[in-house]
Amino acid sequence: MTADAEEFVSALQRRAKIFAPSATATFEANQELCSWLLDPLARWTEAAYGEQAFDEAALGYAKYCLGVAQAQQIYERTGKYTPEAMPEIVSGVYEDEGTMVPYMWAAILIYAFWPSMVEHLALFRDQFLRSLPHNATVLEMASGHGVLSLLAAQERPDVRVEGFDISPPAVAVSNRLLSVSGHAARVKFSVRDAIGGDAIRTSAKFDGIISAMLAEHLTTPLPLFAALARQVSDKGSIFFSTALESPQRDHVYEFHRESEPLQMAEEAGMRAIRMISGASTARTGARFLPRATAMILQPVRTA
Ligand SMILES: C[S@@+](CC[C@H](N)C(=O)[O-])C[C@H]1O[C@@H](n2cnc3c(N)ncnc32)[C@H](O)[C@@H]1O
Repeated sequence: MTADAEEFVSALQRRAKIFAPSATATFEANQELCSWLLDPLARWTEAAYGEQAFDEAALGYAKYCLGVAQAQQIYERTGKYTPEAMPEIVSGVYEDEGTMVPYMWAAILIYAFWPSMVEHLALFRDQFLRSLPHNATVLEMASGHGVLSLLAAQERPDVRVEGFDISPPAVAVSNRLLSVSGHAARVKFSVRDAIGGDAIRTSAKFDGIISAMLAEHLTTPLPLFAALARQVSDKGSIFFSTALESPQRDHVYEFHRESEPLQMAEEAGMRAIRMISGASTARTGARFLPRATAMILQPVRTA
């Protein structure tokens, strides 16, 4: 039998018991959309990594959720993000396979198991991917596990996708999933920094750009917004998302208000044509409310 979404759900019930009930409820309430992600991901996962990968993914998810809960408690006490210095984040997270691989499983599973991220998935599929022009070229910045790019290729057999990420172990995961996905002729992943090195001089234009959950990882997101504005074609669209009041070891830039990334996008020459924001849990009485916002941005014509 071919693997499907149920493999991820039952692995959570075995390996991430305390997080399974809420994840299962989110999955069941959004089954069509979550299966749009998890069914192909299950096939690629089994083909690339074998059956034991579902348990590893569930363990990665549990570790991530625990880390997030602990980081939120510290945040409430300290009143600000307390990330490690960037060189330590790069060596201890992005370059560390033992940290990065379970993290990447969690980073994709939250799209099906956290209510706020399910909304991002709907926006990504229904308003971004399905609106891309025929034969569109797509760039994914910080592609991580690569699954958003692979879903883009799966949903739109006419598009070509280039993804990159600063993390070699993450790019290895994306290439392994790519190799079994059937999309290797139209999708390419590489290791690259979104804002450092020669990124700033890149002038290639794309019809679609994905920048999902990257901005909060940067010391300042301003160069990212400049790069998005420079690299999107005149009639192109950007799927942009970021976390607010959501501390993590590698979350560096602290957004408090939805208006902050929106204003940065506007000042870089773009406007939002759709925008959502949500928290996965209601936390009454807390100082901070972890949430995530996603928007579809388009360039504003100047003349
Ligand atoms: C939370 S993950 C998001 C992965 C994927 N975009 C998603 O939405 O699930 C953040 C990713 O940003 C990558 N990253 C962080 N800083 C980066 C940079 N300066 N350039 C490129 N990638 C970066 C990390 O390696 C990691 O894969």
